[in-house]
Amino acid sequence: MSGLLAGKRLLVTGVITDASIAFSVAKLAQENGAQVVLTGYGRLSLVERIAKRLPEPAPVIELDVTDPEQLAGLADRVREHVDGLDGVVHSIGFAPQSCLGGGFLDAPWEDVATALHVSTYSYKSLAMAALPLMSAGGAVVGLTFDATKAWPVYDWMGVAKAGLESASRYLALHLGKQGIRSNLVAAGPLRTIAAKSIPGFDQFEDAWTERAPLGWSLTDQEPAARACLALLSDWFPATTGEIVHVDGGYHAIGA
Ligand SMILES: NC(=O)c1ccc[n+]([C@@H]2O[C@H](COP(=O)([O-])OP(=O)(O)OC[C@H]3O[C@@H](n4cnc5c(N)ncnc54)[C@H](O)[C@@H]3O)[C@@H](O)[C@H]2O)c1
Repeated sequence: MSGLLAGKRLLVTGVITDASIAFSVAKLAQENGAQVVLTGYGRLSLVERIAKRLPEPAPVIELDVTDPEQLAGLADRVREHVDGLDGVVHSIGFAPQSCLGGGFLDAPWEDVATALHVSTYSYKSLAMAALPLMSAGGAVVGLTFDATKAWPVYDWMGVAKAGLESASRYLALHLGKQGIRSNLVAAGPLRTIAAKSIPGFDQFEDAWTERAPLGWSLTDQEPAARACLALLSDWFPATTGEIVHVDGGYHAIGA
Protein backbone atom coordinates (compact mmCIF):
# COMPACT_ATOMS: atom_id res chain seq x y z
CA MET A 1 0.00 0.00 0.00
CA SER A 2 1.35 3.46 -0.86
CA GLY A 3 0.39 7.04 -0.11
CA LEU A 4 0.71 9.62 2.65
CA LEU A 5 -1.35 7.53 5.08
CA ALA A 6 -0.22 4.07 3.96
CA GLY A 7 -1.27 1.48 6.52
CA LYS A 8 -2.93 3.97 8.86
CA ARG A 9 -6.25 3.14 10.51
CA LEU A 10 -8.58 6.12 10.92
CA LEU A 11 -11.86 6.81 12.65
CA VAL A 12 -13.70 9.57 10.80
CA THR A 13 -16.79 11.21 12.32
CA GLY A 14 -19.12 13.74 10.69
CA VAL A 15 -20.17 12.32 7.32
CA ILE A 16 -23.78 13.21 6.55
CA THR A 17 -23.61 14.07 2.82
CA ASP A 18 -20.91 13.87 0.18
CA ALA A 19 -20.40 17.61 0.73
CA SER A 20 -19.37 16.98 4.36
CA ILE A 21 -15.75 17.92 5.02
CA ALA A 22 -15.46 14.47 6.64
CA PHE A 23 -16.46 12.78 3.37
CA SER A 24 -13.55 14.46 1.57
CA VAL A 25 -11.22 13.46 4.40
CA ALA A 26 -12.39 9.82 4.24
CA LYS A 27 -12.13 9.72 0.43
CA LEU A 28 -8.64 11.27 0.26
CA ALA A 29 -7.48 9.13 3.18
CA GLN A 30 -8.51 5.94 1.39
CA GLU A 31 -6.89 7.18 -1.82
CA ASN A 32 -3.71 7.68 0.21
CA GLY A 33 -3.56 4.23 1.72
CA ALA A 34 -5.61 4.51 4.92
CA GLN A 35 -8.24 2.13 6.22
CA VAL A 36 -11.29 4.16 7.29
CA VAL A 37 -14.05 3.45 9.80
CA LEU A 38 -16.86 6.01 9.86
CA THR A 39 -19.22 7.03 12.61
CA GLY A 40 -22.69 8.33 11.81
CA TYR A 41 -25.20 10.30 13.82
CA GLY A 42 -28.97 10.22 13.45
CA ARG A 43 -29.80 9.22 9.90
CA LEU A 44 -27.62 6.13 9.83
CA SER A 45 -29.05 4.64 6.65
CA LEU A 46 -28.21 7.91 4.86
CA VAL A 47 -24.63 7.80 6.16
CA GLU A 48 -24.35 4.15 5.05
CA ARG A 49 -25.56 5.13 1.58
CA ILE A 50 -23.01 7.98 1.37
CA ALA A 51 -20.27 5.63 2.66
CA LYS A 52 -20.83 3.45 -0.42
CA ARG A 53 -19.70 6.39 -2.60
CA LEU A 54 -16.20 6.19 -1.13
CA PRO A 55 -13.49 4.47 -3.20
CA GLU A 56 -13.71 1.55 -0.71
CA PRO A 57 -16.92 0.83 1.18
CA ALA A 58 -16.36 1.85 4.82
CA PRO A 59 -18.11 0.43 7.89
CA VAL A 60 -20.36 2.87 9.78
CA ILE A 61 -20.71 2.82 13.57
CA GLU A 62 -23.50 4.75 15.25
CA LEU A 63 -22.21 7.56 17.49
CA ASP A 64 -24.03 10.41 19.15
CA VAL A 65 -21.06 12.14 20.67
CA THR A 66 -23.17 13.33 23.62
CA ASP A 67 -24.29 9.78 24.53
CA PRO A 68 -22.08 8.34 27.33
CA GLU A 69 -23.13 4.74 26.57
CA GLN A 70 -22.26 4.99 22.90
CA LEU A 71 -18.94 6.63 23.80
CA ALA A 72 -18.17 3.89 26.32
CA GLY A 73 -18.83 1.19 23.71
CA LEU A 74 -17.01 2.91 20.86
CA ALA A 75 -13.60 1.25 21.22
CA ASP A 76 -15.12 -2.27 21.20
CA ARG A 77 -17.25 -1.45 18.17
CA VAL A 78 -14.27 -0.01 16.28
CA ARG A 79 -12.24 -3.13 17.20
CA GLU A 80 -14.73 -5.23 15.19
CA HIS A 81 -13.22 -3.58 12.07
CA VAL A 82 -9.61 -2.58 12.92
CA ASP A 83 -7.17 -3.67 15.62
CA GLY A 84 -6.14 -0.13 16.58
CA LEU A 85 -6.34 3.52 15.51
CA ASP A 86 -3.61 5.82 14.21
CA GLY A 87 -5.91 8.80 13.78
CA VAL A 88 -9.27 10.22 14.82
CA VAL A 89 -11.10 12.97 12.93
CA HIS A 90 -13.63 15.12 14.80
CA SER A 91 -15.78 16.81 12.16
CA ILE A 92 -18.82 17.56 14.28
CA GLY A 93 -20.68 20.76 15.03
CA PHE A 94 -24.19 21.75 15.97
CA ALA A 95 -25.95 24.72 17.56
CA PRO A 96 -29.72 25.27 17.97
CA GLN A 97 -31.10 28.03 15.75
CA SER A 98 -31.46 30.43 18.71
CA CYS A 99 -27.65 30.43 19.05
CA LEU A 100 -26.99 31.56 15.47
CA GLY A 101 -27.92 34.33 13.03
CA GLY A 102 -27.66 37.27 15.45
CA GLY A 103 -29.30 35.58 18.44
CA PHE A 104 -26.30 35.98 20.74
CA LEU A 105 -27.98 38.23 23.32
CA ASP A 106 -31.16 36.16 23.63
CA ALA A 107 -30.13 32.49 23.29
CA PRO A 108 -31.08 30.59 26.46
CA TRP A 109 -28.46 28.61 28.40
CA GLU A 110 -30.09 25.25 27.55
CA ASP A 111 -29.48 25.92 23.84
CA VAL A 112 -25.98 27.26 24.43
CA ALA A 113 -25.24 24.19 26.55
CA THR A 114 -26.27 21.93 23.65
CA ALA A 115 -23.98 23.83 21.28
CA LEU A 116 -21.04 23.51 23.67
CA HIS A 117 -21.72 19.86 24.43
CA VAL A 118 -21.87 18.79 20.76
CA SER A 119 -19.28 21.17 19.32
CA THR A 120 -16.69 21.64 22.10
CA TYR A 121 -16.78 19.08 24.92
CA SER A 122 -17.23 16.27 22.39
CA TYR A 123 -13.70 16.80 21.11
CA LYS A 124 -12.35 15.56 24.43
CA SER A 125 -15.08 12.88 24.76
CA LEU A 126 -14.32 11.43 21.33
CA ALA A 127 -10.56 11.43 21.92
CA MET A 128 -10.97 9.66 25.27
CA ALA A 129 -13.38 7.11 23.81
CA ALA A 130 -10.84 6.26 21.10
CA LEU A 131 -7.76 6.41 23.35
CA PRO A 132 -7.71 2.69 24.29
CA LEU A 133 -7.06 1.97 20.59
CA MET A 134 -4.32 4.58 20.14
CA SER A 135 -0.59 4.58 20.75
CA ALA A 136 2.42 6.89 20.34
CA GLY A 137 2.42 8.61 16.96
CA GLY A 138 -1.38 8.81 16.88
CA ALA A 139 -3.21 12.00 15.99
CA VAL A 140 -6.53 13.67 16.70
CA VAL A 141 -7.66 16.30 14.19
CA GLY A 142 -10.71 18.60 14.37
CA LEU A 143 -12.29 21.38 12.33
CA THR A 144 -12.70 24.95 13.52
CA PHE A 145 -13.77 28.29 12.09
CA ASP A 146 -11.29 30.98 13.17
CA ALA A 147 -12.47 31.85 16.67
CA THR A 148 -10.10 34.73 17.30
CA LYS A 149 -12.76 37.12 15.99
CA ALA A 150 -16.47 37.75 16.60
CA TRP A 151 -18.19 37.11 13.29
CA PRO A 152 -21.64 38.41 12.34
CA VAL A 153 -24.25 35.58 12.57
CA TYR A 154 -21.88 32.93 14.02
CA ASP A 155 -22.69 33.94 17.62
CA TRP A 156 -22.58 31.05 20.14
CA MET A 157 -21.05 28.72 17.56
CA GLY A 158 -18.10 31.13 17.59
CA VAL A 159 -17.87 30.77 21.36
CA ALA A 160 -18.09 26.99 20.96
CA LYS A 161 -15.24 27.09 18.43
CA ALA A 162 -13.12 29.26 20.76
CA GLY A 163 -13.67 26.54 23.37
CA LEU A 164 -12.79 23.85 20.85
CA GLU A 165 -9.53 25.61 20.03
CA SER A 166 -8.68 25.74 23.71
CA ALA A 167 -9.80 22.13 24.26
CA SER A 168 -7.46 21.02 21.48
CA ARG A 169 -4.55 22.72 23.22
CA TYR A 170 -5.46 21.05 26.52
CA LEU A 171 -5.77 17.68 24.78
CA ALA A 172 -2.31 18.29 23.31
CA LEU A 173 -1.08 19.00 26.84
CA HIS A 174 -2.65 15.93 28.44
CA LEU A 175 -1.99 13.39 25.67
CA GLY A 176 1.49 14.62 24.75
CA LYS A 177 3.15 12.27 27.23
CA GLN A 178 1.59 9.34 25.35
CA GLY A 179 2.94 10.68 22.06
CA ILE A 180 -0.52 11.60 20.75
CA ARG A 181 -0.99 14.90 18.91
CA SER A 182 -4.05 17.16 18.74
CA ASN A 183 -4.40 19.73 15.98
CA LEU A 184 -7.17 21.68 14.24
CA VAL A 185 -7.80 22.88 10.72
CA ALA A 186 -9.46 26.31 10.53
CA ALA A 187 -11.38 26.08 7.27
CA GLY A 188 -12.93 28.95 5.33
CA PRO A 189 -16.69 28.80 4.56
CA LEU A 190 -17.88 25.68 2.72
CA ARG A 191 -21.42 24.87 1.61
CA THR A 192 -22.31 21.94 3.82
CA ILE A 193 -25.47 21.11 5.77
CA ALA A 194 -23.96 22.63 8.93
CA ALA A 195 -23.11 25.85 7.08
CA LYS A 196 -26.52 26.12 5.43
CA SER A 197 -28.17 25.96 8.85
CA ILE A 198 -26.60 29.32 9.76
CA PRO A 199 -28.94 32.18 8.80
CA GLY A 200 -26.87 34.83 6.98
CA PHE A 201 -24.04 32.44 6.08
CA ASP A 202 -23.92 34.13 2.66
CA GLN A 203 -22.13 37.07 4.35
CA PHE A 204 -19.12 34.82 4.90
CA GLU A 205 -19.34 33.56 1.35
CA ASP A 206 -19.23 37.07 -0.11
CA ALA A 207 -16.40 38.22 2.18
CA TRP A 208 -14.23 35.20 1.36
CA THR A 209 -14.75 35.17 -2.38
CA GLU A 210 -13.99 38.91 -2.55
CA ARG A 211 -11.06 39.12 -0.14
CA ALA A 212 -9.16 35.86 0.34
CA PRO A 213 -5.70 36.51 -1.16
CA LEU A 214 -5.59 33.10 -2.85
CA GLY A 215 -9.27 33.18 -3.78
CA TRP A 216 -11.72 30.73 -2.24
CA SER A 217 -14.07 28.03 -3.51
CA LEU A 218 -17.19 27.52 -1.38
CA THR A 219 -17.73 24.06 -2.81
CA ASP A 220 -14.23 22.55 -2.75
CA GLN A 221 -13.69 20.63 0.50
CA GLU A 222 -10.42 19.14 -0.70
CA PRO A 223 -8.00 21.84 0.56
CA ALA A 224 -9.33 21.47 4.12
CA ALA A 225 -9.30 17.67 3.79
CA ARG A 226 -5.71 17.69 2.52
CA ALA A 227 -4.61 19.63 5.60
CA CYS A 228 -6.37 17.08 7.82
CA LEU A 229 -4.48 14.29 6.04
CA ALA A 230 -1.18 16.11 6.50
CA LEU A 231 -1.81 16.49 10.23
CA LEU A 232 -2.80 12.82 10.51
CA SER A 233 0.34 11.76 8.67
CA ASP A 234 3.88 11.29 9.96
CA TRP A 235 4.90 14.62 8.43
CA PHE A 236 3.97 16.73 11.49
CA PRO A 237 5.60 14.56 14.16
CA ALA A 238 6.50 17.45 16.48
CA THR A 239 3.38 19.60 16.00
CA THR A 240 0.55 19.60 18.51
CA GLY A 241 -1.90 22.16 19.89
CA GLU A 242 -1.67 23.88 16.50
CA ILE A 243 -4.31 25.44 14.25
CA VAL A 244 -3.64 25.37 10.51
CA HIS A 245 -5.66 27.90 8.51
CA VAL A 246 -7.04 26.62 5.23
CA ASP A 247 -8.94 29.73 4.23
CA GLY A 248 -7.25 31.12 1.14
CA GLY A 249 -5.25 33.39 3.47
CA TYR A 250 -8.29 35.35 4.71
CA HIS A 251 -7.18 35.30 8.37
CA ALA A 252 -3.94 37.06 7.49
CA ILE A 253 -5.39 40.21 6.00
CA GLY A 254 -7.17 43.31 7.37
CA ALA A 255 -10.73 43.71 6.10
N1 LIG B 1 -18.77 24.32 6.44
C1 LIG B 1 -18.02 25.30 6.89
O1 LIG B 1 -18.07 26.44 6.39
C2 LIG B 1 -17.05 25.05 8.01
C3 LIG B 1 -15.97 25.92 8.19
C4 LIG B 1 -15.08 25.68 9.24
C5 LIG B 1 -15.28 24.61 10.09
N2 LIG B 1 -16.37 23.77 9.88
C6 LIG B 1 -16.55 22.66 10.81
O2 LIG B 1 -16.38 21.44 10.11
C7 LIG B 1 -17.01 20.41 10.84
C8 LIG B 1 -17.85 19.56 9.89
O3 LIG B 1 -18.93 20.31 9.42
P1 LIG B 1 -19.37 20.34 7.88
O4 LIG B 1 -19.27 21.75 7.46
O5 LIG B 1 -18.67 19.29 7.10
O6 LIG B 1 -20.94 20.05 7.97
P2 LIG B 1 -21.79 18.69 7.97
O7 LIG B 1 -23.18 19.11 8.28
O8 LIG B 1 -21.55 17.92 6.75
O9 LIG B 1 -21.16 17.90 9.21
C9 LIG B 1 -21.53 18.14 10.56
C10 LIG B 1 -21.63 16.78 11.21
O10 LIG B 1 -21.87 16.87 12.62
C11 LIG B 1 -22.61 15.71 12.95
N3 LIG B 1 -23.22 15.81 14.27
C12 LIG B 1 -24.08 16.76 14.73
N4 LIG B 1 -24.46 16.45 15.99
C13 LIG B 1 -23.80 15.30 16.34
C14 LIG B 1 -23.78 14.48 17.50
N5 LIG B 1 -24.51 14.77 18.59
N6 LIG B 1 -22.99 13.36 17.51
C15 LIG B 1 -22.24 13.05 16.43
N7 LIG B 1 -22.23 13.78 15.29
C16 LIG B 1 -23.01 14.89 15.25
C17 LIG B 1 -23.65 15.63 11.84
O11 LIG B 1 -24.25 14.34 11.78
C18 LIG B 1 -22.78 15.94 10.62
O12 LIG B 1 -22.27 14.75 10.07
C19 LIG B 1 -17.82 21.09 11.96
O13 LIG B 1 -17.07 21.10 13.14
C20 LIG B 1 -17.92 22.51 11.42
O14 LIG B 1 -18.17 23.46 12.42
C21 LIG B 1 -17.23 23.96 8.85
